[in-house]
Amino acid sequence: MATIVVSGSAGGMGRAIRKRLEDAGDRVIGIDQTDAEVVVDLESPTARAEAVFEVLRHSGGVVDGVVATAGVLFGPGSRMVSVNYFAAVQLVEGLRDALTGSVNPTALVFSSNSVTTFPGYPLAVTAACLAGDEEAARKVGDVDYGVTPYPATKLALARWARRAAPEWMRSGICLNIVMPGLTETPMVADHLDQYLALETYPIPAARPGAPDEIAGLVQYLLGPDARYFSGSVLCMDGGAEAALRAEDWPGEPT
Ligand SMILES: NC(=O)c1ccc[n+]([C@@H]2O[C@H](COP(=O)([O-])OP(=O)(O)OC[C@H]3O[C@@H](n4cnc5c(N)ncnc54)[C@H](O)[C@@H]3O)[C@@H](O)[C@H]2O)c1
Repeated sequence: MATIVVSGSAGGMGRAIRKRLEDAGDRVIGIDQTDAEVVVDLESPTARAEAVFEVLRHSGGVVDGVVATAGVLFGPGSRMVSVNYFAAVQLVEGLRDALTGSVNPTALVFSSNSVTTFPGYPLAVTAACLAGDEEAARKVGDVDYGVTPYPATKLALARWARRAAPEWMRSGICLNIVMPGLTETPMVADHLDQYLALETYPIPAARPGAPDEIAGLVQYLLGPDARYFSGSVLCMDGGAEAALRAEDWPGEPT
């Protein structure tokens, strides 16, 4: 039985991940604002530190996986900066020592394919996140750019994880990035038809993803057959990114 920490465990994908893992006999320590073992608002750095402490108390100091699923798509940019970037980083870093006691230690962070398909978002927010000063980044996040900074926070998270992954792998921990496309969860429920109708975002599968499809990918990535993934960006989006950007990746090094 593995012990897996899932943030956002009460939401769409987090809930599906929790169900899959528990159905398979694993133990889940959920983190969310409600309906979780650790109830916390991840916007607050102090609350996040307390959440890590609580997870360690629940787990006895060893965890096999950390899945940082929690994220916000709407609301102030500062909240996106804190929840989407700083909370995910603090959670996986805060539990890194606990992972080293596991046989198959894995950390997963959740990016978004809006990073590669939604043009014109403010890269200043990405840079501010990666600079590591949360208060300063929150201010940059709250500037009115006329477009959402959401993809900028998710790019920062993917970049952070790609930069960190080689060193984590050298200590035996797989650190990877899950990049969902449009997935039918409470996060997008009120706008689903609008997103599906976007001419600028064609989905060859002609449907949103199901949370359980992402949960299946996560379950695989947490398991013993996925020990050669490190710094990988696993995009599951019904073909949207390939339809829009077939030539952009992979490509030769410059
Ligand atoms: N649904 C999509 O189409 C989509 C697409 C790409 C990426 N994503 C990303 O996938 C992840 C999961 O998204 P989802 O669609 O399941 O979202 P969701 O809104 O259905 O669930 C997110 C969960 O995170 C929790 N959460 C949010 N802010 C929190 C906070 N401050 N403190 C504690 N918990 C908090 C919520 O309470 C909720 O239970 C997110 O990181 C999201 O950005 C979603």
